[in-house]
Amino acid sequence: MREWSREEKYRYLKDPQELAELYEQISKSPYRQTFHNQAVTGLMNDPNGFVWHDNRWHLFYQWCPWGAVHGLKHWYHIVSKDLVTWENLGVCLLPDQEGGYDNKGVYSGSAMPIGDKIYLYYTGNHRDPDWTRRAYTCLARLGNDGWPEKYPLPLFGAHPDYTEHQRDPKIICLPGSNKYYMIIGAQTKDKRGCALIYSSGNLQHGWQFAGELKVPGFENFGDMWACPSIERFDGRDVLLLCPQHITLPGRGGSQNHNGYILGTMDWDSLTFTPDGQFHVLDFGFDSYAAACANNLQEEDKAILIAWMGVPDVEYPTDDEDWSGCLTLPRELTIRGRRLIQRPLPELKKLRDERIPLPENKAGCFVLPRAAEIELDCRPGDVRLDLFVDEEGKGGLSVIYSEEEKQITVDRSGMRIRFNETEGTSRVRPLEFGLFHLRIFVDSSSVEIFVNDGDAVFTSRVFPTDREHFCRISGDTFNRVWTLKPAVKDEFLI
Ligand code: FRU
Repeated sequence: MREWSREEKYRYLKDPQELAELYEQISKSPYRQTFHNQAVTGLMNDPNGFVWHDNRWHLFYQWCPWGAVHGLKHWYHIVSKDLVTWENLGVCLLPDQEGGYDNKGVYSGSAMPIGDKIYLYYTGNHRDPDWTRRAYTCLARLGNDGWPEKYPLPLFGAHPDYTEHQRDPKIICLPGSNKYYMIIGAQTKDKRGCALIYSSGNLQHGWQFAGELKVPGFENFGDMWACPSIERFDGRDVLLLCPQHITLPGRGGSQNHNGYILGTMDWDSLTFTPDGQFHVLDFGFDSYAAACANNLQEEDKAILIAWMGVPDVEYPTDDEDWSGCLTLPRELTIRGRRLIQRPLPELKKLRDERIPLPENKAGCFVLPRAAEIELDCRPGDVRLDLFVDEEGKGGLSVIYSEEEKQITVDRSGMRIRFNETEGTSRVRPLEFGLFHLRIFVDSSSVEIFVNDGDAVFTSRVFPTDREHFCRISGDTFNRVWTLKPAVKDEFLI
């Protein structure tokens, strides 16, 4: 693992050509994705500012140009007409080189389109010369010409009653209300995770602190809540959050989680009354900082995209000086006390050919580099071994046990392993058994949708040249498609 000095991590980007060689080198990696958005160079983390505007979807991601390191963060801009094929538009928000409010990073946030502009709300990560951190909530306006104009002053600074960990503004516009809200991830002085609410009658000014969000029963839940948001769909309120530094049952040694609580939000008393427990959004290994699109055309609908990665984890491509990609977009609905996440229907457009599945001596067929696998399952045990070698050894296994009524995803058989300290297998009970699996495989990731969105396992995987076979056993009906490329991996800075 490369050691980065502070100077290297926080080096300002002066000329795109500084990255040309790095890009050339990275584009040769066998792990570059074909239908998932990924860091153009360096590191990608959270998705930000997900909105529909000017006849296309806009999405930004946290981007550190230089390598696989959480250094100087920018907002990189990508667009799509259909949420399936995507284009790079280049860097949008850059940190201020003159010591301004975001001199050491343009951190996560959200967006709201008004007229022909998109308003971008983000955290200015400021460091004083003695490296004291100050968080500012900042605003920029993006015109259709693609140029962002930062407002000279922040909307507000950090609240003095909380630590400097105050970030990730999510802008919320309630239908029928003339008030806007912003929810911000924070930490109390006694190191408890929480969310702060600000409100204003105007998107561009007049923001006032309204109070700390009350979530009865969750007063002591991790030491910081990153990327909180409150979404409303299917007639319910959903609090999404990433509680940090807390261990949770079934989550191995992981300290960072992304989950949700269903409940009812009362904006007058700033109370979110939970209707049940905290659920993780994703049962896999690599998913964090999920963002919901802000202004969907159809009310009561929600689309979510997450970072396919987690903080504090070293990934195998770190040595190639890049890391991070985004999940596929998922449509959210609510069934009972759970969120259901389905791949967007439009993703069927990715299907290229349905392929025959001739088995070799070991009962394996060749797994294409980009593939969708769909299984209808009859009652009984099911086992799927992805990324095994020709002899059917190793790989990532998906095992459903009818007796235990649970599904397990185990990646300990992969030749290239990483982050093993957080555990190598994850389990999810399936009370009513397994009836359906839909799996998306890209060069270095796998997303497993169980029982039509009832559970999702998202994981990065780094198969070697030999790990390109698959074996399926159980009473199942199987279909496999090769998938078309959908991201233009262009060098656009
Ligand atoms: C979550 C996070 C955010 C922060 C951003 C910085 O992954 O730590 O809280 O704004 O990443 O890149």
